[in-house]
Amino acid sequence: MSDRLIVFDTTLRDGEQSPGASMTSDEKLTIAKALEKMRVDIIEAGFPAASPGDFEAVKKVAKEIKDSTVCALARAVAGDLDKAARAVQAARSGRIHTFIATSPIHMREKLRLTEDQVLERAVWAVKTARNYTDDVEFSPEDAGRSDLDFLCRVLEAAIKAGARTVNIPDTVGYNLPGQFADLIRNLMEKVPNSDQAVFSVHCHDDLGLAVANSLAAVHVGARQVECTINGLGERAGNASLEEIVMAVRTRQDFFHCDTQIDTTQIVPTSRLVSSVTGFAIQPNKAIVGANAFAHESGIHQDGVIKKRETYEIMRAQDVGWSNNRMVLGKHSGRHAFNQRMKELGFELETEEDLKNAFAKFKRLADRKHEIFDDDLVGLMVDSNFVLNEGRVRLESLRVSSDSGKHSTASLGLCIDGESLQATADGNGPVDASFRAVKSLVESDPVLELYSVHSITGGTDALGEVSVRLKENGRIVNGHGSDTDIVTASVRAYIDALNRLGSSTRSHPQKDSMI
Ligand code: KIV
Ligand code: ZN
Repeated sequence: MSDRLIVFDTTLRDGEQSPGASMTSDEKLTIAKALEKMRVDIIEAGFPAASPGDFEAVKKVAKEIKDSTVCALARAVAGDLDKAARAVQAARSGRIHTFIATSPIHMREKLRLTEDQVLERAVWAVKTARNYTDDVEFSPEDAGRSDLDFLCRVLEAAIKAGARTVNIPDTVGYNLPGQFADLIRNLMEKVPNSDQAVFSVHCHDDLGLAVANSLAAVHVGARQVECTINGLGERAGNASLEEIVMAVRTRQDFFHCDTQIDTTQIVPTSRLVSSVTGFAIQPNKAIVGANAFAHESGIHQDGVIKKRETYEIMRAQDVGWSNNRMVLGKHSGRHAFNQRMKELGFELETEEDLKNAFAKFKRLADRKHEIFDDDLVGLMVDSNFVLNEGRVRLESLRVSSDSGKHSTASLGLCIDGESLQATADGNGPVDASFRAVKSLVESDPVLELYSVHSITGGTDALGEVSVRLKENGRIVNGHGSDTDIVTASVRAYIDALNRLGSSTRSHPQKDSMI
Protein backbone atom coordinates (compact mmCIF):
# COMPACT_ATOMS: atom_id res chain seq x y z
CA MET A 1 0.00 0.00 0.00
CA SER A 2 1.41 3.37 -1.04
CA ASP A 3 2.18 5.93 1.65
CA ARG A 4 1.12 8.81 -0.58
CA LEU A 5 -2.41 10.17 -0.23
CA ILE A 6 -3.59 11.74 -3.47
CA VAL A 7 -5.61 14.96 -3.07
CA PHE A 8 -8.36 15.37 -5.66
CA ASP A 9 -9.95 18.80 -5.32
CA THR A 10 -13.48 19.23 -6.67
CA THR A 11 -14.15 22.83 -5.58
CA LEU A 12 -14.58 23.83 -9.21
CA ARG A 13 -17.05 21.02 -9.92
CA ASP A 14 -18.94 19.68 -6.88
CA GLY A 15 -18.16 22.92 -5.00
CA GLU A 16 -19.68 24.89 -7.83
CA GLN A 17 -22.86 22.85 -7.43
CA SER A 18 -23.64 24.77 -4.21
CA PRO A 19 -26.58 26.98 -5.14
CA GLY A 20 -25.21 30.42 -5.99
CA ALA A 21 -21.58 29.32 -6.20
CA SER A 22 -21.30 29.24 -9.98
CA MET A 23 -18.08 30.78 -11.19
CA THR A 24 -16.95 32.44 -14.39
CA SER A 25 -14.11 30.82 -16.33
CA ASP A 26 -11.69 33.53 -15.17
CA GLU A 27 -12.66 32.88 -11.56
CA LYS A 28 -12.20 29.14 -12.06
CA LEU A 29 -8.77 29.74 -13.51
CA THR A 30 -7.76 32.00 -10.62
CA ILE A 31 -8.78 29.32 -8.12
CA ALA A 32 -7.17 26.55 -10.19
CA LYS A 33 -3.87 28.45 -10.10
CA ALA A 34 -4.12 28.72 -6.31
CA LEU A 35 -4.81 24.96 -6.08
CA GLU A 36 -1.85 24.24 -8.34
CA LYS A 37 0.35 26.42 -6.13
CA MET A 38 -0.92 24.45 -3.13
CA ARG A 39 0.27 21.28 -4.94
CA VAL A 40 -3.13 19.65 -5.25
CA ASP A 41 -2.64 16.46 -7.31
CA ILE A 42 -5.85 16.57 -9.32
CA ILE A 43 -8.18 19.51 -10.01
CA GLU A 44 -11.68 18.52 -11.13
CA ALA A 45 -12.37 21.66 -13.15
CA GLY A 46 -16.00 21.07 -14.09
CA PHE A 47 -18.66 19.11 -15.91
CA PRO A 48 -18.22 20.10 -19.57
CA ALA A 49 -21.56 18.68 -20.70
CA ALA A 50 -23.43 20.89 -18.21
CA SER A 51 -23.15 24.05 -20.32
CA PRO A 52 -21.00 25.65 -23.02
CA GLY A 53 -19.65 27.96 -20.28
CA ASP A 54 -18.45 25.02 -18.21
CA PHE A 55 -16.90 23.37 -21.27
CA GLU A 56 -14.90 26.56 -21.98
CA ALA A 57 -13.92 26.91 -18.31
CA VAL A 58 -12.52 23.36 -18.14
CA LYS A 59 -10.71 23.90 -21.42
CA LYS A 60 -9.14 27.11 -20.13
CA VAL A 61 -8.01 25.48 -16.87
CA ALA A 62 -6.65 22.46 -18.80
CA LYS A 63 -4.60 24.73 -21.05
CA GLU A 64 -3.07 26.83 -18.26
CA ILE A 65 -2.45 24.37 -15.42
CA LYS A 66 0.82 22.48 -15.72
CA ASP A 67 1.66 20.93 -12.35
CA SER A 68 -1.69 19.35 -11.42
CA THR A 69 -3.75 16.85 -13.39
CA VAL A 70 -6.92 18.48 -14.76
CA CYS A 71 -10.04 16.32 -14.61
CA ALA A 72 -13.45 16.61 -16.29
CA LEU A 73 -16.62 14.87 -15.13
CA ALA A 74 -18.85 12.90 -17.53
CA ARG A 75 -21.95 10.76 -17.14
CA ALA A 76 -21.71 7.35 -18.80
CA VAL A 77 -23.06 8.70 -22.08
CA ALA A 78 -21.27 9.33 -25.36
CA GLY A 79 -21.94 13.08 -25.55
CA ASP A 80 -20.58 13.72 -22.05
CA LEU A 81 -17.49 11.60 -22.61
CA ASP A 82 -16.74 13.32 -25.89
CA LYS A 83 -17.10 16.80 -24.35
CA ALA A 84 -14.98 15.85 -21.33
CA ALA A 85 -12.27 14.47 -23.61
CA ARG A 86 -12.21 17.60 -25.76
CA ALA A 87 -12.18 19.87 -22.70
CA VAL A 88 -9.06 18.25 -21.18
CA GLN A 89 -7.33 17.50 -24.49
CA ALA A 90 -4.83 20.35 -24.10
CA ALA A 91 -3.89 19.45 -20.52
CA ARG A 92 -0.33 18.37 -19.81
CA SER A 93 -1.98 15.70 -17.68
CA GLY A 94 -5.72 15.13 -18.17
CA ARG A 95 -8.22 12.78 -16.57
CA ILE A 96 -11.79 11.76 -17.42
CA HIS A 97 -14.02 10.93 -14.46
CA THR A 98 -17.10 8.97 -15.48
CA PHE A 99 -19.92 7.83 -13.22
CA ILE A 100 -23.17 5.91 -13.09
CA ALA A 101 -25.40 5.19 -10.10
CA THR A 102 -25.37 1.71 -8.54
CA SER A 103 -27.77 1.96 -5.58
CA PRO A 104 -31.14 0.19 -5.92
CA ILE A 105 -33.11 3.44 -5.49
CA HIS A 106 -31.08 5.31 -8.13
CA MET A 107 -31.12 2.42 -10.63
CA ARG A 108 -34.84 1.78 -10.19
CA GLU A 109 -36.25 5.31 -9.82
CA LYS A 110 -33.80 7.51 -11.69
CA LEU A 111 -32.06 5.44 -14.33
CA ARG A 112 -34.76 2.78 -14.79
CA LEU A 113 -32.03 0.28 -15.58
CA THR A 114 -31.36 -3.20 -14.24
CA GLU A 115 -28.13 -4.15 -12.50
CA ASP A 116 -26.85 -5.86 -15.65
CA GLN A 117 -27.62 -2.81 -17.78
CA VAL A 118 -25.81 -0.52 -15.34
CA LEU A 119 -22.78 -2.83 -15.28
CA GLU A 120 -22.69 -2.96 -19.06
CA ARG A 121 -22.97 0.85 -19.29
CA ALA A 122 -20.18 1.33 -16.73
CA VAL A 123 -17.82 -0.94 -18.68
CA TRP A 124 -18.71 0.76 -21.95
CA ALA A 125 -18.10 4.23 -20.43
CA VAL A 126 -14.69 3.30 -19.01
CA LYS A 127 -13.60 1.70 -22.30
CA THR A 128 -14.84 4.71 -24.27
CA ALA A 129 -12.99 7.10 -21.95
CA ARG A 130 -9.83 4.98 -22.29
CA ASN A 131 -9.95 5.61 -26.04
CA TYR A 132 -9.30 9.27 -25.20
CA THR A 133 -6.87 9.01 -22.28
CA ASP A 134 -5.11 6.46 -20.07
CA ASP A 135 -6.11 8.32 -16.93
CA VAL A 136 -9.72 7.26 -16.30
CA GLU A 137 -11.57 7.36 -12.99
CA PHE A 138 -14.84 5.54 -12.42
CA SER A 139 -17.45 6.29 -9.71
CA PRO A 140 -20.45 4.14 -8.80
CA GLU A 141 -22.71 7.00 -7.70
CA ASP A 142 -24.46 6.46 -4.35
CA ALA A 143 -22.05 3.62 -3.56
CA GLY A 144 -22.73 4.27 0.13
CA ARG A 145 -26.24 2.83 -0.34
CA SER A 146 -25.39 0.16 -2.92
CA ASP A 147 -25.44 -3.60 -2.52
CA LEU A 148 -21.93 -4.83 -1.66
CA ASP A 149 -21.86 -7.81 -4.03
CA PHE A 150 -23.13 -5.75 -6.94
CA LEU A 151 -20.63 -2.99 -6.14
CA CYS A 152 -17.83 -5.59 -6.18
CA ARG A 153 -18.96 -6.84 -9.60
CA VAL A 154 -19.13 -3.30 -11.04
CA LEU A 155 -15.73 -2.29 -9.65
CA GLU A 156 -14.04 -5.47 -10.86
CA ALA A 157 -15.46 -4.90 -14.35
CA ALA A 158 -14.57 -1.18 -14.36
CA ILE A 159 -10.97 -1.92 -13.36
CA LYS A 160 -10.75 -4.65 -16.01
CA ALA A 161 -12.09 -2.15 -18.58
CA GLY A 162 -9.25 0.24 -17.72
CA ALA A 163 -10.24 2.44 -14.78
CA ARG A 164 -7.06 3.36 -12.90
CA THR A 165 -8.91 4.99 -10.05
CA VAL A 166 -12.17 3.77 -8.56
CA ASN A 167 -13.93 6.32 -6.44
CA ILE A 168 -16.48 5.34 -3.79
CA PRO A 169 -18.96 8.17 -3.26
CA ASP A 170 -21.20 8.54 -0.25
CA THR A 171 -23.36 10.72 -2.47
CA VAL A 172 -26.06 11.52 0.08
CA GLY A 173 -23.87 11.62 3.21
CA TYR A 174 -25.64 8.62 4.74
CA ASN A 175 -22.71 6.57 6.01
CA LEU A 176 -21.13 6.48 9.47
CA PRO A 177 -17.35 6.32 9.91
CA GLY A 178 -17.03 2.70 11.10
CA GLN A 179 -19.48 1.49 8.48
CA PHE A 180 -17.78 3.42 5.66
CA ALA A 181 -14.36 2.08 6.70
CA ASP A 182 -15.82 -1.46 6.60
CA LEU A 183 -17.19 -0.80 3.12
CA ILE A 184 -13.80 0.32 1.79
CA ARG A 185 -11.96 -2.54 3.54
CA ASN A 186 -14.45 -5.08 2.16
CA LEU A 187 -14.21 -3.71 -1.36
CA MET A 188 -10.42 -3.76 -1.30
CA GLU A 189 -10.45 -7.34 -0.03
CA LYS A 190 -13.26 -8.74 -2.20
CA VAL A 191 -12.65 -7.13 -5.60
CA PRO A 192 -10.13 -9.56 -7.13
CA ASN A 193 -8.20 -6.92 -9.12
CA SER A 194 -8.39 -4.14 -6.49
CA ASP A 195 -4.59 -3.90 -6.46
CA GLN A 196 -4.70 -2.57 -10.03
CA ALA A 197 -6.51 0.67 -9.13
CA VAL A 198 -6.25 3.46 -6.60
CA PHE A 199 -9.21 3.42 -4.21
CA SER A 200 -10.67 6.89 -3.73
CA VAL A 201 -13.45 8.28 -1.53
CA HIS A 202 -15.89 11.14 -2.08
CA CYS A 203 -18.02 11.97 0.96
CA HIS A 204 -20.87 14.43 1.40
CA ASP A 205 -21.60 16.19 4.66
CA ASP A 206 -25.37 15.73 5.16
CA LEU A 207 -24.79 14.32 8.66
CA GLY A 208 -21.65 16.38 9.29
CA LEU A 209 -19.52 13.25 8.79
CA ALA A 210 -17.82 13.85 5.44
CA VAL A 211 -14.35 14.40 6.89
CA ALA A 212 -14.73 11.65 9.51
CA ASN A 213 -15.87 9.16 6.85
CA SER A 214 -13.03 10.15 4.49
CA LEU A 215 -10.43 9.76 7.23
CA ALA A 216 -11.86 6.40 8.32
CA ALA A 217 -11.48 5.24 4.71
CA VAL A 218 -7.92 6.55 4.48
CA HIS A 219 -7.06 4.65 7.65
CA VAL A 220 -8.07 1.35 6.06
CA GLY A 221 -6.32 1.95 2.75
CA ALA A 222 -8.08 4.51 0.50
CA ARG A 223 -5.33 6.47 -1.22
CA GLN A 224 -7.23 9.28 -2.90
CA VAL A 225 -9.57 11.74 -1.17
CA GLU A 226 -12.02 13.92 -3.04
CA CYS A 227 -12.61 17.19 -1.23
CA THR A 228 -13.24 20.90 -1.57
CA ILE A 229 -11.87 24.10 -0.12
CA ASN A 230 -14.00 25.23 2.86
CA GLY A 231 -16.11 22.07 2.41
CA LEU A 232 -18.09 23.76 -0.37
CA GLY A 233 -20.37 21.47 -2.36
CA GLU A 234 -23.80 20.13 -3.21
CA ARG A 235 -26.31 20.59 -0.30
CA ALA A 236 -24.35 20.42 3.00
CA GLY A 237 -21.12 20.23 1.02
CA ASN A 238 -18.19 17.88 0.53
CA ALA A 239 -15.37 16.85 2.83
CA SER A 240 -13.17 19.87 3.48
CA LEU A 241 -9.68 19.70 1.98
CA GLU A 242 -8.05 21.70 4.75
CA GLU A 243 -9.45 19.47 7.51
CA ILE A 244 -8.44 16.22 5.82
CA VAL A 245 -4.96 17.43 4.91
CA MET A 246 -4.26 18.80 8.38
CA ALA A 247 -5.68 15.75 10.17
CA VAL A 248 -3.41 13.44 8.18
CA ARG A 249 -0.39 15.76 8.60
CA THR A 250 -0.96 16.34 12.32
CA ARG A 251 -1.69 12.69 13.14
CA GLN A 252 1.20 11.02 11.37
CA ASP A 253 1.32 8.63 14.34
CA PHE A 254 -2.04 7.24 13.17
CA PHE A 255 -2.16 7.57 9.39
CA HIS A 256 0.37 5.64 7.38
CA CYS A 257 0.40 8.14 4.54
CA ASP A 258 0.73 11.87 3.79
CA THR A 259 -0.15 14.36 1.06
CA GLN A 260 2.20 16.61 -0.91
CA ILE A 261 0.11 19.71 -0.10
CA ASP A 262 1.93 22.96 0.71
CA THR A 263 -0.18 23.70 3.78
CA THR A 264 0.93 27.34 3.96
CA GLN A 265 -1.32 27.98 0.96
CA ILE A 266 -4.44 26.76 2.77
CA VAL A 267 -5.63 30.02 4.35
CA PRO A 268 -5.00 32.25 1.29
CA THR A 269 -6.80 29.74 -0.95
CA SER A 270 -9.67 29.43 1.50
CA ARG A 271 -10.06 33.24 1.51
CA LEU A 272 -9.92 33.34 -2.25
CA VAL A 273 -12.67 30.71 -2.62
CA SER A 274 -14.77 32.49 -0.01
CA SER A 275 -14.41 35.82 -1.78
CA VAL A 276 -15.14 34.43 -5.24
CA THR A 277 -18.20 32.45 -4.18
CA GLY A 278 -19.49 34.85 -1.52
CA PHE A 279 -19.73 31.94 0.96
CA ALA A 280 -18.43 33.33 4.23
CA ILE A 281 -16.30 31.13 6.48
CA GLN A 282 -17.82 30.62 9.92
CA PRO A 283 -15.46 31.98 12.61
CA ASN A 284 -15.19 28.63 14.42
CA LYS A 285 -14.50 26.63 11.24
CA ALA A 286 -11.52 24.31 11.81
CA ILE A 287 -8.19 25.46 10.33
CA VAL A 288 -9.48 28.44 8.31
CA GLY A 289 -12.05 30.11 10.62
CA ALA A 290 -11.05 33.45 12.13
CA ASN A 291 -11.12 31.90 15.63
CA ALA A 292 -9.34 28.66 14.74
CA PHE A 293 -6.15 29.79 16.47
CA ALA A 294 -7.59 32.43 18.84
CA HIS A 295 -7.47 31.78 22.57
CA GLU A 296 -10.09 33.56 24.64
CA SER A 297 -9.88 32.06 28.12
CA GLY A 298 -7.17 33.34 30.45
CA ILE A 299 -6.12 29.81 31.37
CA HIS A 300 -5.58 28.93 27.72
CA GLN A 301 -3.75 32.17 26.99
CA ASP A 302 -1.47 31.59 29.97
CA GLY A 303 -0.78 28.03 28.82
CA VAL A 304 0.00 29.06 25.25
CA ILE A 305 2.37 31.81 26.43
CA LYS A 306 4.21 29.26 28.58
CA LYS A 307 4.28 26.55 25.94
CA ARG A 308 2.30 26.80 22.69
CA GLU A 309 1.69 23.05 22.54
CA THR A 310 -0.39 23.13 25.75
CA TYR A 311 -3.42 24.20 23.72
CA GLU A 312 -2.33 24.17 20.08
CA ILE A 313 -1.89 21.01 18.01
CA MET A 314 -0.92 22.89 14.85
CA ARG A 315 0.99 26.10 14.15
CA ALA A 316 -1.08 28.89 12.66
CA GLN A 317 1.71 29.83 10.25
CA ASP A 318 1.88 26.25 8.94
CA VAL A 319 -1.58 26.69 7.43
CA GLY A 320 -0.84 30.19 6.16
CA TRP A 321 -2.22 32.40 8.90
CA SER A 322 0.91 34.51 9.25
CA ASN A 323 0.64 35.69 5.68
CA ASN A 324 -1.62 38.64 6.29
CA ARG A 325 1.31 41.05 6.50
CA MET A 326 1.09 44.77 6.03
CA VAL A 327 2.70 44.76 2.65
CA LEU A 328 2.19 47.91 0.73
CA GLY A 329 1.21 51.52 1.11
CA LYS A 330 0.71 54.74 -0.78
CA HIS A 331 4.36 54.97 -1.82
CA SER A 332 4.77 51.42 -3.05
CA GLY A 333 5.73 51.11 -6.69
CA ARG A 334 4.36 49.03 -9.54
CA HIS A 335 7.16 46.51 -9.29
CA ALA A 336 6.58 45.80 -5.58
CA PHE A 337 2.85 45.60 -6.21
CA ASN A 338 3.24 43.15 -9.09
CA GLN A 339 5.73 41.05 -7.12
CA ARG A 340 3.33 40.73 -4.16
CA MET A 341 0.45 39.88 -6.49
CA LYS A 342 2.55 37.06 -7.96
CA GLU A 343 3.34 35.76 -4.49
CA LEU A 344 -0.39 35.74 -3.77
CA GLY A 345 -0.98 33.69 -6.92
CA PHE A 346 -2.33 36.42 -9.21
CA GLU A 347 -0.59 36.71 -12.56
CA LEU A 348 -1.29 40.09 -14.14
CA GLU A 349 -0.53 38.86 -17.58
CA THR A 350 -0.90 41.88 -19.85
CA GLU A 351 0.43 45.39 -19.39
CA GLU A 352 -3.23 46.53 -19.39
CA ASP A 353 -4.12 44.16 -16.51
CA LEU A 354 -1.20 45.46 -14.47
CA LYS A 355 -2.08 49.08 -15.25
CA ASN A 356 -5.72 48.62 -14.18
CA ALA A 357 -4.82 46.70 -11.07
CA PHE A 358 -2.17 49.19 -10.01
CA ALA A 359 -4.52 52.14 -10.58
CA LYS A 360 -7.14 50.52 -8.36
CA PHE A 361 -4.51 49.75 -5.72
CA LYS A 362 -3.41 53.41 -5.74
CA ARG A 363 -6.99 54.58 -5.30
CA LEU A 364 -7.31 52.28 -2.31
CA ALA A 365 -3.95 53.41 -0.90
CA ASP A 366 -5.15 57.02 -1.02
CA ARG A 367 -7.96 56.14 1.36
CA LYS A 368 -6.40 53.36 3.41
CA HIS A 369 -3.11 53.81 5.15
CA GLU A 370 -1.93 50.21 5.32
CA ILE A 371 -2.70 47.64 2.64
CA PHE A 372 -2.69 43.98 3.74
CA ASP A 373 -2.57 40.82 1.66
CA ASP A 374 -6.27 40.33 2.25
CA ASP A 375 -7.00 43.78 0.82
CA LEU A 376 -5.15 42.77 -2.34
CA VAL A 377 -7.09 39.52 -2.60
CA GLY A 378 -10.28 41.56 -2.09
CA LEU A 379 -9.32 43.87 -4.93
CA MET A 380 -8.63 40.95 -7.23
CA VAL A 381 -11.93 39.15 -6.67
CA ASP A 382 -14.01 42.30 -7.00
CA SER A 383 -15.22 41.65 -10.51
CA ASN A 384 -15.52 45.35 -11.24
CA PHE A 385 -11.79 45.28 -10.95
CA VAL A 386 -10.11 42.92 -13.38
CA LEU A 387 -11.98 39.70 -13.67
CA ASN A 388 -15.08 40.90 -15.43
CA GLU A 389 -16.30 44.25 -16.74
CA GLY A 390 -20.01 43.92 -17.40
CA ARG A 391 -22.67 45.85 -19.30
CA VAL A 392 -23.46 47.96 -16.25
CA ARG A 393 -20.83 50.07 -14.49
CA LEU A 394 -21.06 52.39 -11.50
CA GLU A 395 -19.98 55.94 -12.37
CA SER A 396 -21.00 57.96 -9.32
CA LEU A 397 -22.84 57.55 -6.04
CA ARG A 398 -24.05 59.99 -3.42
CA VAL A 399 -26.13 58.98 -0.40
CA SER A 400 -27.65 61.01 2.40
CA SER A 401 -29.02 59.50 5.59
CA ASP A 402 -30.73 61.08 8.56
CA SER A 403 -31.15 58.69 11.49
CA GLY A 404 -34.78 57.63 11.88
CA LYS A 405 -35.69 58.99 8.44
CA HIS A 406 -35.50 57.62 4.93
CA SER A 407 -32.19 57.68 3.07
CA THR A 408 -31.76 59.00 -0.44
CA ALA A 409 -29.31 57.74 -3.06
CA SER A 410 -28.40 59.47 -6.32
CA LEU A 411 -26.24 57.50 -8.66
CA GLY A 412 -24.88 57.44 -12.17
CA LEU A 413 -24.58 54.19 -14.11
CA CYS A 414 -23.03 53.52 -17.47
CA ILE A 415 -25.20 50.90 -19.23
CA ASP A 416 -23.93 49.65 -22.58
CA GLY A 417 -21.88 52.81 -22.94
CA GLU A 418 -24.72 55.22 -22.09
CA SER A 419 -24.53 57.35 -18.91
CA LEU A 420 -27.77 57.42 -16.90
CA GLN A 421 -28.75 59.03 -13.59
CA ALA A 422 -31.33 58.01 -10.96
CA THR A 423 -32.42 59.00 -7.46
CA ALA A 424 -34.39 56.84 -5.02
CA ASP A 425 -35.43 56.80 -1.38
CA GLY A 426 -35.11 53.73 0.78
CA ASN A 427 -34.98 52.24 4.22
CA GLY A 428 -31.29 52.99 4.78
CA PRO A 429 -28.56 53.92 2.29
CA VAL A 430 -28.10 50.41 0.84
CA ASP A 431 -31.81 49.95 0.20
CA ALA A 432 -32.02 53.42 -1.41
CA SER A 433 -29.00 52.68 -3.63
CA PHE A 434 -30.33 49.29 -4.76
CA ARG A 435 -33.70 50.92 -5.61
CA ALA A 436 -31.90 53.56 -7.67
CA VAL A 437 -29.97 50.86 -9.57
CA LYS A 438 -33.16 48.86 -10.17
CA SER A 439 -34.92 51.90 -11.60
CA LEU A 440 -32.27 52.03 -14.35
CA VAL A 441 -31.93 48.36 -15.27
CA GLU A 442 -34.62 46.20 -16.76
CA SER A 443 -34.55 43.24 -14.38
CA ASP A 444 -36.12 42.94 -10.92
CA PRO A 445 -34.44 39.91 -9.36
CA VAL A 446 -35.06 38.64 -5.84
CA LEU A 447 -32.33 39.50 -3.34
CA GLU A 448 -31.55 36.18 -1.65
CA LEU A 449 -28.48 37.12 0.33
CA TYR A 450 -26.70 40.28 1.36
CA SER A 451 -23.58 39.98 3.48
CA VAL A 452 -20.86 42.39 4.51
CA HIS A 453 -17.57 41.64 6.10
CA SER A 454 -14.48 43.67 6.72
CA ILE A 455 -11.46 42.17 5.04
CA THR A 456 -8.93 43.52 7.54
CA GLY A 457 -9.13 45.31 10.88
CA GLY A 458 -9.64 49.04 11.53
CA THR A 459 -12.38 51.47 10.61
CA ASP A 460 -10.70 52.13 7.25
CA ALA A 461 -10.82 48.41 6.40
CA LEU A 462 -11.87 47.32 2.96
CA GLY A 463 -15.47 46.14 3.24
CA GLU A 464 -16.36 43.16 1.13
CA VAL A 465 -19.99 42.69 0.16
CA SER A 466 -21.62 39.61 -1.37
CA VAL A 467 -25.04 39.74 -2.95
CA ARG A 468 -27.03 36.75 -4.20
CA LEU A 469 -29.78 37.38 -6.76
CA LYS A 470 -32.36 34.99 -8.16
CA GLU A 471 -34.26 35.48 -11.39
CA ASN A 472 -36.19 32.93 -13.44
CA GLY A 473 -34.75 30.07 -11.38
CA ARG A 474 -31.16 31.21 -11.87
CA ILE A 475 -29.02 32.16 -8.90
CA VAL A 476 -25.86 34.27 -9.12
CA ASN A 477 -23.49 35.82 -6.62
CA GLY A 478 -21.93 39.25 -7.02
CA HIS A 479 -19.08 40.77 -5.08
CA GLY A 480 -17.81 44.25 -4.44
CA SER A 481 -15.22 45.80 -2.20
CA ASP A 482 -14.50 49.34 -1.14
CA THR A 483 -13.60 51.22 2.01
CA ASP A 484 -17.13 52.65 1.76
CA ILE A 485 -19.55 49.78 2.36
CA VAL A 486 -22.43 51.45 0.51
CA THR A 487 -20.24 51.71 -2.58
CA ALA A 488 -19.10 48.11 -2.05
CA SER A 489 -22.76 47.07 -1.81
CA VAL A 490 -23.70 48.80 -5.05
CA ARG A 491 -20.70 47.27 -6.80
CA ALA A 492 -21.72 43.82 -5.57
CA TYR A 493 -25.31 44.37 -6.73
CA ILE A 494 -24.18 45.54 -10.16
CA ASP A 495 -21.76 42.62 -10.43
CA ALA A 496 -24.61 40.18 -9.77
CA LEU A 497 -26.83 41.96 -12.31
CA ASN A 498 -24.06 41.69 -14.90
CA ARG A 499 -23.77 37.98 -14.22
CA LEU A 500 -27.51 37.51 -14.56
CA GLY A 501 -27.34 39.33 -17.85
CA SER A 502 -24.39 37.46 -19.28
CA SER A 503 -24.39 33.96 -17.87
CA THR A 504 -26.43 31.25 -19.51
CA ARG A 505 -25.17 28.43 -17.37
CA SER A 506 -27.63 26.02 -15.82
CA HIS A 507 -27.03 24.10 -12.62
CA PRO A 508 -24.50 21.42 -13.62
CA GLN A 509 -26.63 18.50 -12.46
CA LYS A 510 -30.05 20.09 -12.97
CA ASP A 511 -30.88 17.94 -15.99
CA SER A 512 -32.00 14.50 -15.01
CA MET A 513 -29.23 11.94 -15.02
CA ILE A 514 -29.38 9.16 -17.53
O1 KIV B 1 -21.53 12.81 -4.97
C1 KIV B 1 -21.33 12.13 -5.99
O2 KIV B 1 -21.70 10.96 -6.09
C2 KIV B 1 -20.64 12.78 -7.09
C3 KIV B 1 -20.20 11.88 -8.19
C4 KIV B 1 -20.37 12.52 -9.52
C5 KIV B 1 -18.80 11.42 -7.94
O3 KIV B 1 -20.37 13.94 -7.05
ZN1 ZN C 1 -20.49 14.71 -4.96
